[in-house]
Amino acid sequence: MMDHGDVEWLACPSCGGRLVFHGQMTEREHLRHGALRCGGCGEAWKVSRGLARLYREGEVRGTDRLMRVIYDGLPALHDPLTAVLTPLLQSVSEPDARDRYMRRVELGALRPRLDGQPTRILEVGVGTGANLPLIHRDLPRGLDVEVWGVDLSEGMLTQCRKRLASGELPRTRLLMADAHALPFPDAMFDRVLHVGGIGGYRQPRVALEEMARVARPGTPLVVVDEQLDKAARPNWMQRLAFRAITFYDRNPHCPRELLPLGATGVVEEQVAPFYYCLTFRVDSPNTRAMSGREGTSSAG
Ligand SMILES: C[S@@+](CC[C@H](N)C(=O)[O-])C[C@H]1O[C@@H](n2cnc3c(N)ncnc32)[C@H](O)[C@@H]1O
Repeated sequence: MMDHGDVEWLACPSCGGRLVFHGQMTEREHLRHGALRCGGCGEAWKVSRGLARLYREGEVRGTDRLMRVIYDGLPALHDPLTAVLTPLLQSVSEPDARDRYMRRVELGALRPRLDGQPTRILEVGVGTGANLPLIHRDLPRGLDVEVWGVDLSEGMLTQCRKRLASGELPRTRLLMADAHALPFPDAMFDRVLHVGGIGGYRQPRVALEEMARVARPGTPLVVVDEQLDKAARPNWMQRLAFRAITFYDRNPHCPRELLPLGATGVVEEQVAPFYYCLTFRVDSPNTRAMSGREGTSSAG
């Protein structure tokens, strides 16, 4: 959940302007109902059931809409299915597969920021929060950290809230937002992670630009999604299962060719038989692409 103080770190997903909350808060100053109004373009973004909804419904189209129907339809099944199917189909346990990309996030290298701000970590498409325990595990003890998670599926975020309610994880600010128009200012985050979704995004190039825009220069950006490891000679059952899992994508592969201009330190690796991990950095802050909005184009 977000509280009143978190609002100053948001930016209007339409114009990048500052937002002000008008509405009801809980006793603990968490946003409950109301709207976040942009001081720039005047747009009011709804807050309901404790969730800020910083995206335009009309822009959730094509595969993004389809994915949301799927994730909203089975949020409680996502984690058990992943835990069972990962070892069955890929001969690797889910924790092992996750470990292989988490090391690329280099959380252990984080140090307190010189400007006194907390270290900020963003997961785009946070889902049920399955990466949050690993983020917590890998962070240096005592570091002042804020974790932010965005997703388009309210069902998945509800599951994530249940996970967070256990109290063992650091407070995570959850909000509904579209990866194509992230509601944050440029260069806000010290780490950016995305796992399992970009292959189904309507404009993956725009999503990569947005992740690069909100990352501080030099920070690792880690993107993980489906790609079949052909070098491992998958058997027919694995090929069939992979096809079924990625039915929405004609050519599921690492989108290296869509990286933003100026991406450096690019590392592409296969971290599981069905998953690639793409790590890169940007040395100077990218500015807001505005291309996730209506009427703009992308090669995605
Ligand atoms: C396979 S789940 C992965 C969840 C989590 N990252 C993990 O590793 O378990 C993909 C998530 O991406 C979300 N998603 C799909 N399209 C999105 C978009 N355009 N913007 C933000 N999230 C999106 C889905 O709602 C879903 O929760």
